[in-house]
Amino acid sequence: MPSAQAPHYYEPPVFISALQIKEKIRVLGEQINRDYGQQEITAICTLKGSVLFYTDLLKELKMPIKCEFLGLSSYGNQTKSSGEVKVTLDLNEHLDGKHVIIFEDIVDSGLTLSYVLEYLKMRKPLSLKTAALLFKPEALQVKNLTIDYLGFKIENEFVVGYGLDYAQKFRGLPYIGKLNP
Ligand code: IMP
Repeated sequence: MPSAQAPHYYEPPVFISALQIKEKIRVLGEQINRDYGQQEITAICTLKGSVLFYTDLLKELKMPIKCEFLGLSSYGNQTKSSGEVKVTLDLNEHLDGKHVIIFEDIVDSGLTLSYVLEYLKMRKPLSLKTAALLFKPEALQVKNLTIDYLGFKIENEFVVGYGLDYAQKFRGLPYIGKLNP
């Protein structure tokens, strides 16, 4: 039983509500269903931030799906990625001849997604597309990065919740929040 004196867990103010996320995911699901019909896809979730986005979006999809997980850690400080990415958990299945969609929580500098795309292209998928819940256009540092299925464009601010963390906290929030400055 939590005690009455338990410290209050800080809840960041809502930036994108759970309802807005739900509606956006429904729309993204429709787009993917329209594009792929009944063709099988391999859906790759990048760990850990994309887990909630991935599982909610998968529920909207009507084609056969192979699920794969790619563990990534990027070096850098707590709020900035350096673009040096390390694969901490690799895929189980080969990708050659597969229609692959990679699911990312957020594209900030774009360095992580660019790295992952190059990494996956080496495995010769039949097609390779990208889905991202959030995108910060002002922070982008790479050219020619296409996000095929995008949730929300946001300003260059640090956000948490719905899978996204700050120092491993806030991943379980059902909404996207902004941290206090
Ligand atoms: P990028 O390589 O700069 O595009 O950063 C990608 C990764 O950095 C994401 O997959 C997140 O894990 C993390 N990241 C970037 N911006 C944020 C943010 O605003 N909140 C939480 N994590 C972030």
